[in-house]
Amino acid sequence: MKVQDGVMTDKSNESAKDAPVAVLGLGLMGRALAGAFLRAGHPTTVWNRTPGKAAELADAGARTAASPEEAVRAAALVVVCVSDHTAVHDLLDRLDAADPALLAGRVLVNLTSGTAAQARENAARAAAAGGGYLDGVILAVPQAIGTPEAVVLYSGARADFERYEPALRSLATDATAHLGEDHGLAALHDSAVLGLMWSVLNGFLHGAALLGAAGVDASAFAPLAARSTVTVAGWLADYAGQIDAGTYPADDATLETHIAAMDHLAEESAALGVSTELPDLVRTLAGRALAAGQGGASYAALVEQFRRPAPAAGEAAAE
Ligand SMILES: NC(=O)c1ccc[n+]([C@@H]2O[C@H](COP(=O)([O-])OP(=O)(O)OC[C@H]3O[C@@H](n4cnc5c(N)ncnc54)[C@H](OP(=O)(O)O)[C@@H]3O)[C@@H](O)[C@H]2O)c1
Repeated sequence: MKVQDGVMTDKSNESAKDAPVAVLGLGLMGRALAGAFLRAGHPTTVWNRTPGKAAELADAGARTAASPEEAVRAAALVVVCVSDHTAVHDLLDRLDAADPALLAGRVLVNLTSGTAAQARENAARAAAAGGGYLDGVILAVPQAIGTPEAVVLYSGARADFERYEPALRSLATDATAHLGEDHGLAALHDSAVLGLMWSVLNGFLHGAALLGAAGVDASAFAPLAARSTVTVAGWLADYAGQIDAGTYPADDATLETHIAAMDHLAEESAALGVSTELPDLVRTLAGRALAAGQGGASYAALVEQFRRPAPAAGEAAAE
């Protein structure tokens, strides 16, 4: 492989499994990412704003850079994993100030959590400097990085993804995927998955509070809760088909049947002095679907309530 000032000039070898990588940001996740690249055999140069976090990585063979620009010059694949978008912004400002063409010919892979709009802004900045940009989302804890358990998803130019896919697979050996060319797609998937996670957890916590009020331990509820979660997961593919088709045949249960059970949940919660906020939200959305004439439809019809902004206070009261 030919490397000139960090940028590989022999395009045919760019996807080699030993492509040099720079990792900027050595927090909990950044250190895990750099460690996985090293274990996979990539010459890895690391930098962190606060010195002292690279000792273990250096022992494992990483080269430590004194500045982010020095780290970037060492590799054509530059991975950034810092706290938030402001930190990414600061870092890009610093690279730009050092050399406005520093990213030219390189691909910046940002694994910092953020929004779709922030991803598109970063992509525009990298493009203005002549570089490629992939936004990535890590659906894993640091301990899972480099194992089959880790899921890391990317969005941006497919060519940039494919060029570095072998290196990126070092982070998530079995679940590395490209979601599409729109740079915002990875962040959007992250938000969608987090929303799902919180909804499942809130359902569990509300159930634990409800049963706890009747003297049942959360640990006793957990096995039934886990089993129910798996059952619900099994419905997703069919409901997804209904959502994509825009028709909601109630082959299993109608929304009206669900609503009767939702009323029990709110009633039980109130009777036990448990918060009714979660059942009330669910019941409000279902009530709107009922008012729209979807009482005989499947639960998936509720997607239409999620597709629009919540009605203003006066409108909601009128329903
Ligand atoms: N940890 C996880 O389980 C996990 C899972 C998925 C996604 N993520 C995402 O990964 C990213 C990093 O998380 P983390 O757990 O590694 O956080 P962390 O341990 O708190 O590390 C934050 C890193 O950001 C650096 N940083 C903050 N502001 C900076 C700035 N202005 N300029 C340069 N560097 C700056 C810090 O440098 P200093 O050492 O100098 O403070 C540190 O290296 C976050 O966006 C997080 O949402 C984390």
